[in-house]
Order: sequence, then structure tokens, then C-alpha cells
Amino acid sequence: MSTTIYDQHYQSLDYFGKPYPELVDFFKRLDRDQTILDLGCGQGRDLLFLAKLGFNMIGVDLSTVGIEQVKRRANQLKLHISLEVADIYNYIIPPGVDIILMDSMLHFYKNNIQKETELVNSLLDQLKNGGFFCNCLLKGKRREMILKDIIEKSRFEWNIIYDDYIDYPDNNSEYHFLVLEKRWT
Ligand SMILES: C[S@@+](CC[C@H](N)C(=O)[O-])C[C@H]1O[C@@H](n2cnc3c(N)ncnc32)[C@H](O)[C@@H]1O
Repeated sequence: MSTTIYDQHYQSLDYFGKPYPELVDFFKRLDRDQTILDLGCGQGRDLLFLAKLGFNMIGVDLSTVGIEQVKRRANQLKLHISLEVADIYNYIIPPGVDIILMDSMLHFYKNNIQKETELVNSLLDQLKNGGFFCNCLLKGKRREMILKDIIEKSRFEWNIIYDDYIDYPDNNSEYHFLVLEKRWT
């Protein structure tokens, strides 16, 4: 598989720092007997923390370097995590996933709006009823509107579980942390 820019970034351990405290607090309140799929898990910033909390974790990323690092750290910590180097645009969600997590994965840059919209729609389709879609998006009016629009136009109903901004001091920025529950129909 070809190398990516992230393979270079991940020469530094914990390139994106620690999980956001708000994300930490949120997941600490959930039942641990759930399976979380971290799409674009990178070096396992969220994935390893959530595995330590006791969730069943599945991580997918294009970066072989990232996935190999997560594997090594999971082995050291004796955590059983399912990991795969794969492109999330061709990835089929395995059965049993309760929560889809995407942290800093969607950007909605002009050239990618259609591709990312199709991806989100496909994820919302595949998510089980009662499942959570959790997304951390860099604060920005336009991109937040695009995501809101996708959700509003989806053929499903959603309960808003979390909808607020969280600080990312490492990058002097804020993220919009949105958690939606797919309503039973
Ligand atoms: C900004 S980083 C975020 C990493 C991690 N979610 C975090 O918050 O620490 C984006 C990650 O998405 C991965 N990525 C980008 N496009 C991808 C794709 N099409 N399929 C799988 N992973 C992808 C990159 O390799 C990188 O690890």
C-alpha cells in the first residue's frame, strides 16, 4: 500500500495529542458492552483510550504506520482490538457495530463535498437502529451546515445526544462534537 502524508506525521508519537476531555467524559457515561467503530483511527488517540475503558473496538485507517503503532500499543497493553488498513470509502460496516466514531475525518472541502456526503449517507444507512453516530468536526459555519443538511435530509429520524463545541488547545481550535442516535422506526 502506498504511503500517505499521515505516515509521515505519525513518525511522531501521538501526533494529534490526547482525546478531548469532553469526548472522554461522554464515553465514560456509556455502557461498555458496546462495539465502537473508529473510522480513520490514526494512531489510536481515541481508539486506545476507549479500548482501555472496556469498549469493543474496531479501528480502520489508510495509514499502515498508524495501524502498526496501534497494534504494538494494544499488544503492550494486552488490549484486543480489531484493526484494519483500509479505505473507509470502500469499507462495509461489520455486523454488531453500535457506535460509529469519526474524529477529524470529515472536512467538506469544495472538491470533496459530494464524496463525503455520500460517505456519511452510506454510514447513516448502515448504522443500526438505536446506534450512535459520533462526529468531531473542526468548527466552521459552512462545513457544519453541510453536515446538518445531510442529517436533516436523511431518511431517518435522529435524537441529538450531544451537540456542543469542544476545545482543542493543542491546535488552538474548536471542534463541533455531535452525537446522534438513530431512532427506531
Ligand atoms: C486528521 S487524522 C485523525 C486521526 C484520528 N481520528 C484522531 O482524531 O486522532 C485523519 C486520519 O484519517 C485517515 N484517513 C484519511 N482518509 C482515509 C480513508 N479514505 N480511509 C481510511 N483512513 C483515512 C488518515 O490516515 C488519518 O489517520
